[in-house]
Amino acid sequence: MTRKILLIVGGGIAAYKACELIRLCRKAGIEVKCVLTAGGQHFVTPMTLAALSENQVYTNLFDLKDEAEMGHIQLSREADLVVVAPATADLLAKMAAGIADDLATTLLLATDKPVLAAPAMNVRMWQHAATRRNVATLRGDGVTILEPDEGPMACGEYGPGRLPEPEAILRAIQNLPSHLREGSGEGPAANTASLLTAPPLTPPASGRGTLAGKHILVTAGPTHEPIDPVRYIANRSSGKQGYAIAGALAALGARVTLVSGPVTLATPPGVTRVDVETAQDMANAVAQALPADAAVMVAAVGDWHVEAAAQKLKKEGGAPPTLHLSENPDILAMLAASPRRPALVVGFAAETERVVDHAVAKRTRKGADWIVANDVSGDVMGGEANAIHLVTADGVEHWERLPKQDVARRLAERIADAL
Ligand code: CTP
Repeated sequence: MTRKILLIVGGGIAAYKACELIRLCRKAGIEVKCVLTAGGQHFVTPMTLAALSENQVYTNLFDLKDEAEMGHIQLSREADLVVVAPATADLLAKMAAGIADDLATTLLLATDKPVLAAPAMNVRMWQHAATRRNVATLRGDGVTILEPDEGPMACGEYGPGRLPEPEAILRAIQNLPSHLREGSGEGPAANTASLLTAPPLTPPASGRGTLAGKHILVTAGPTHEPIDPVRYIANRSSGKQGYAIAGALAALGARVTLVSGPVTLATPPGVTRVDVETAQDMANAVAQALPADAAVMVAAVGDWHVEAAAQKLKKEGGAPPTLHLSENPDILAMLAASPRRPALVVGFAAETERVVDHAVAKRTRKGADWIVANDVSGDVMGGEANAIHLVTADGVEHWERLPKQDVARRLAERIADAL
């Protein structure tokens, strides 16, 4: 449980929403200490924050009285979580660069606790390459950054950049995974490292799992797109992560339908498996398996198919054959847009560069609720471990490299919580 937060209020028009956030936190039993930047003081006063938080408000790095009562390093360490709201473009840039030129940025550099930032800025500033870079750097450093809301802005423009509603920020504070909440005291980098030692999740002892009564659809493995009766186009997916997820969901009591491309794995206990070969077969089997309460689309679906030759292609006759590729149906996007959409749609994103940025875009483009992103530039495909980033409407969580079975168990528990 997060009991104490250090709230850093940056200088933007959205600073007024920090007042509501403090009120909601207090109501939820969370103690709040505030740091107000010089910019923030143009929008709200220390007096307002002090009255709402019922605590002293800190504004100055070189305040001798404050320093005598409580050193600024201690201030950065005594909370369970540091929350930056609103996190302006300037604050994010300084955080990413490790600049410490006022009280807020010094505390952010000195803290050994997890940091959650709720950005708010003009849409162009949010979309600027410099801000994208800074956000990617900070996420890579283990900082949780919420996605800003989209809508009309105080500056008259429209787009993403509005501070998330205080209720959403409070939810993010409360839902921050325990490994991030319980700062390990070894600096922000240790936030993710502590995952390695997190206790394994075990199925409930009662036998009635937390997913009892729920039907969950999982796709896994590669697809094979025939070229002729003996050849096909495939990819390196082994199906291990999808099978582990199907097994973990079944262990929590769900009825699981696993639509699987060609793999050499055993069906996990309690899972109903439907074998398919092509992307079109997979799309048909997914439609057949509905309705479902949730869908977890782990399959590495081939993006294209070939108009397959009826007979084996022969090499005599000169030039090699040309393969004409046509696009396959996007099963995830179709499911997310369908009237029979499961309540929770989870997609995967296999990327080889700019993993989180691509995954954040993919979540919106495909209409998924969550995207589980992984970097497949190493030995992930066919390997035993996976380092993933969970992209939700509330932001991005970075999970440390874990055995695929542990990723599956943790994800299954998150799905159980969400359902
Ligand atoms: N997916 C799908 N149907 C497809 C392609 C992908 O259902 N025809 C699903 C995958 O199961 C996964 C997600 O979409 O959950 C993302 O897959 P990925 O291969 O990373 O994305 P692509 O759509 O292929 O996008 P890109 O090639 O641009 O990265």
